[in-house]
Amino acid sequence: MVLVRTIYKFVIINRSGDPILHVSQSSAKHFLTSCSLEETLSRLQRLRMASSTPLIWLITGTSSGFGNCLVGSVLARGDRVIATARSLESPGVDHLLQLQRDNPENVCVRQLDVTAGAEAIGAVVAEAVGVWGRIDIVVSNAGAGYPGLIEEGGSALLRKQFDVNFFGVMDTCAATLPYLRAQKFGTIVIIGSRSAWKPEIPGTLYYLPQPQNADHTTLHTGHYAASKAAVHALAESLTAEVAPLGVRVLLVQPGAFRTSIASQSSSVYHTSNPIPDYDAMRGVSEGRFKGLSGTEKGDPSKAMDAVVDVVRGEGHAQGRPWPGLLVLGQDAENDVRGKCKRVLDHLDEWKDVVRGVGIDSE
Ligand SMILES: NC(=O)c1ccc[n+]([C@@H]2O[C@H](COP(=O)([O-])OP(=O)(O)OC[C@H]3O[C@@H](n4cnc5c(N)ncnc54)[C@H](OP(=O)(O)O)[C@@H]3O)[C@@H](O)[C@H]2O)c1
Repeated sequence: MVLVRTIYKFVIINRSGDPILHVSQSSAKHFLTSCSLEETLSRLQRLRMASSTPLIWLITGTSSGFGNCLVGSVLARGDRVIATARSLESPGVDHLLQLQRDNPENVCVRQLDVTAGAEAIGAVVAEAVGVWGRIDIVVSNAGAGYPGLIEEGGSALLRKQFDVNFFGVMDTCAATLPYLRAQKFGTIVIIGSRSAWKPEIPGTLYYLPQPQNADHTTLHTGHYAASKAAVHALAESLTAEVAPLGVRVLLVQPGAFRTSIASQSSSVYHTSNPIPDYDAMRGVSEGRFKGLSGTEKGDPSKAMDAVVDVVRGEGHAQGRPWPGLLVLGQDAENDVRGKCKRVLDHLDEWKDVVRGVGIDSE
């Protein structure tokens, strides 16, 4: 048994993390070791994760790529999964349906289009919660990339991109949070992207080795990068808002991984609004984009194993505090470090201006 402090009271919890006795502050003083709210919640979550009860995961976008690998990683740890896919007709879903037939006590497949709107997603989630009585971990993974030049794609392409990558995440969180809040326990995993750290040069979606003297503005996925930057901000705000309610958020920022994202039939380079000034740039950029698939260095299975380690607090994550953030891939590391350095250099070089714009003291 452990004594922990919540915002309003002191609680003794058992090994499963269930509160078993509320005590007054004066009683608690006798055996309380000082514990912040974050430590308290982290301890509660770890105790839950360490219990032998299988955890229940709901994952979006499991027909291919990360989502598909994650289903395998989750099942390998003995947990249960509600694997959702935009269409159950998709070829990638066949083996999930077979898994469901072979192993119905651990696998449940449901149709879920993350652009269907909050109400429709809410109905799928409500039904999914009923399968095993709760959901412990929600993985907002579904996403797509619509490459094109910013001006040519304009707000129409941006809206299309945000519908899946941003509003899809928002609606998935909104549909599942009421259940996580009610049980005062749960984890939301949001798949962002390192592209948000490097939207201005080639490889915002993927790393490509550059030929010498290459034009470093020839692979354009600015709409995608913008949607992922917005997702990062959303995840970070959500983290702070739901932490006091017992819900954790893990923001995953992968680099280039060998999934289907660049070969999806929807990932067609945007060319329907050509502006002649961009002709040369578009030509090179589109050609590079077409050559992306299969060149990525990251292994999506290893990435998803790492996510499961972090969520379950085991393997690579054993004994480490909850990170909140998981950058995956050396290319992602380079881009994050590069951006941080550029911003810090700017702050140093422009310190006089940065600091010199306050209202003069009255
Ligand atoms: N691979 C990378 O290098 C990389 C890097 C950083 C971030 N990411 C992110 O990782 C996530 C997974 O992508 P991936 O790389 O695994 O690519 P992927 O193999 O193309 O998988 C994307 C999944 O999202 C699904 N999806 C797309 N639109 C959907 C919708 N409206 N509703 C429900 N599901 C939908 C796809 O289903 P359908 O088959 O039905 O289209 C597919 O299952 C995405 O958020 C992506 O942005 C990927």
